[in-house]
Amino acid sequence: MLVIVKKNYDEISKEAAQIVADRLRRKPNMVLGLATGSTPLGLYKELIRIHKKEGLDFSKVTTFNLDEYVGLPPTHRQSYNYFMYQNLFKHINIPQHAIHVPDGMAHDIDGFCDWYEQEMQRFGGIDLQVLGIGANGHVAFNEPGSSLGSRTRVKTLTQETRQNNARFFKGKEEVPRYAITMGIGTIMDAKELIMLATGSGKADAIKAAAEGPLTSQCPASVVQLHRKTFVIVDKEAGAKLTGLYPGSWKSSFTLAR
Ligand code: PGA
Repeated sequence: MLVIVKKNYDEISKEAAQIVADRLRRKPNMVLGLATGSTPLGLYKELIRIHKKEGLDFSKVTTFNLDEYVGLPPTHRQSYNYFMYQNLFKHINIPQHAIHVPDGMAHDIDGFCDWYEQEMQRFGGIDLQVLGIGANGHVAFNEPGSSLGSRTRVKTLTQETRQNNARFFKGKEEVPRYAITMGIGTIMDAKELIMLATGSGKADAIKAAAEGPLTSQCPASVVQLHRKTFVIVDKEAGAKLTGLYPGSWKSSFTLAR
């Protein structure tokens, strides 16, 4: 695990974008795993900038997104499909057929989840997966208690997550109760992981993920078993990590573990 501590959100976004851009230049047909939420927005902005200014080419990429609400069509403003189009896909040269976001409107959801797993395999597996982390240590919709071996499946959202996400809807009752999410086992199959976190609200989660016991109570802690993970945090999100030197962020400190 490489823990990279940066000064602020802008710098973690740029660091993550440099890693994605590097992998993409080396393997133009890479399979890229993507996340929604506020944290990766800076990364997507930077990738769009590199695409426009430096010609970073997405024409041969295949993408798979982590999750989607059940019951929201891609046209719904709170669907993750919509989010991805607005914040990344419509600004880069990725072909429509190469984009995979779970289908929240699938009639046979279990069948869809199996297909999604098979489709990742058909493309050779995910090369690099981008991840956020919840304040409670969740990754994608794998809430505390999720099986560490889980695959893509339907999950019931916790009360806490529905409450947190209510701000995006007209009220808590409008927040879907279920989501399709890649499992922890699915995520662990990616060849490389980038976990991003910003702000003091994520400091406990990052500490638990990188240094706490390996436990389903903090699903993100499973990254300790992964062979190649970058944990990229700003100084606030990294504040509770041990092993950092005082003022580490000033030199964009990297803690190799
Ligand atoms: P956030 O969400 O990026 O909006 O903080 C991250 C997550 O809950 O996984």
